[in-house]
Amino acid sequence: MTVKSDIKDIKLAAEGCKRIEWAERNMPVLRLIRERFKKEKPLKGTSLACCLHVTTETANLMRTLKAGGADVALCASNPLSTQDDTAAALVKEYKIPVFAVHGEDNKTYYRHIHQALDMKPRITMDDGADLVSTLHNERRDLAPNVLAGTEETTTGVIRLRAMALLFPVVAVNDSKTKHFFDNRYGTGQSTIDGILRATNMLLAGSTVVVAGYGWCGRGLATRMQGMGAHMIVTEVDPVKAIEATMDGFTVMPMSQAAPKGDLFVTLTGDINVIRLEHFRKMKDGAIVCNSGHFDVELDLKALRNAAKKSRLLRPGVREYDLGGKRINVLVEGRLVNLSAAEGHPAMVMDMSFANQALAAEYIVRNHRKLERRVYVVPEKIDSAIAALKLKSMGLKIDRLTAEQREYLASWKIGT
Ligand code: ADE
Repeated sequence: MTVKSDIKDIKLAAEGCKRIEWAERNMPVLRLIRERFKKEKPLKGTSLACCLHVTTETANLMRTLKAGGADVALCASNPLSTQDDTAAALVKEYKIPVFAVHGEDNKTYYRHIHQALDMKPRITMDDGADLVSTLHNERRDLAPNVLAGTEETTTGVIRLRAMALLFPVVAVNDSKTKHFFDNRYGTGQSTIDGILRATNMLLAGSTVVVAGYGWCGRGLATRMQGMGAHMIVTEVDPVKAIEATMDGFTVMPMSQAAPKGDLFVTLTGDINVIRLEHFRKMKDGAIVCNSGHFDVELDLKALRNAAKKSRLLRPGVREYDLGGKRINVLVEGRLVNLSAAEGHPAMVMDMSFANQALAAEYIVRNHRKLERRVYVVPEKIDSAIAALKLKSMGLKIDRLTAEQREYLASWKIGT
């Protein structure tokens, strides 16, 4: 059987298979779900178009959905995060159609999204909402066939909440077992991983400016501090700014932080957070990168226009010459954790993708009750994932006694 695909090189499949197996060892919750799916086939005959980072962790999610009886197609949710060996393994070993090539241009990226949509999905699975927005803008004829979609990331959920949706979408990002862990510990660690692989810089003693103190920003700031960096946080939300201050970080506007930082990281989900006025104030040799979903957080257009010249100094590091001042931008402002490293470790993606798999099952069972709006994953599923993860880690917790349950349910007992 030939599997439809557009990938770099099918000969990379053997390497991809070994790396998928390595990731699987740290995805015990997804494994349990896959074993149950294999027996129960809850997704039988359901076509699922997925637009996700093509990584080894995603490959294990694809295997799980297929084990549940789904017909799956995968395209990339970012042109630089695709692991070509993983894509090859998915096509050759797991017979899953994949449309993704590392470094593809914008035109190819959207052609691949259309190729995934060509399967006429009953469920869409997105990371950043490019699949759903393309469907709403250019393929509206497909909408009546869609039962519902799922969305992986904060940026995608923000986009979806701003749309007049043609079908319901489950915001997997908003599960506790997703954002408390993936955004905080996953982005926190993988962002450092990407920065170190690209630069090999020393964090201890460096001044690091983190823009945005959401779950991703606080995860990163805490880990950077743990490695000996002097931390500055910039924020626009007064509550988050107080939180950052009380967590022990120095808070100031970007205009004041610009001359102080050795390294700048944006994780805001917003546009042009670091602008030319900031680049101009930075130290010679400053390193600037983004770990937010889209490459819009740094105003690179203005930097390119202002720079006398630029050169690729080492893989993933582009140096811009601002008349004697050198600014180093990592991986063209694309999300650094997936473009210069491998994204979040499997251990944390295990819970994120358990949410995705169970959300797909939930949609098949409950789509008739859902309206055209954004939903969260039911609390019962979130708690079940946490319980399975604890079990897989060999951890036990206390249970409420009958007396405690009664106390919590009653308003009568006071001082
Ligand atoms: N998002 C962040 N890290 C990821 C990973 N390892 N795989 C898929 N999506 C991700």
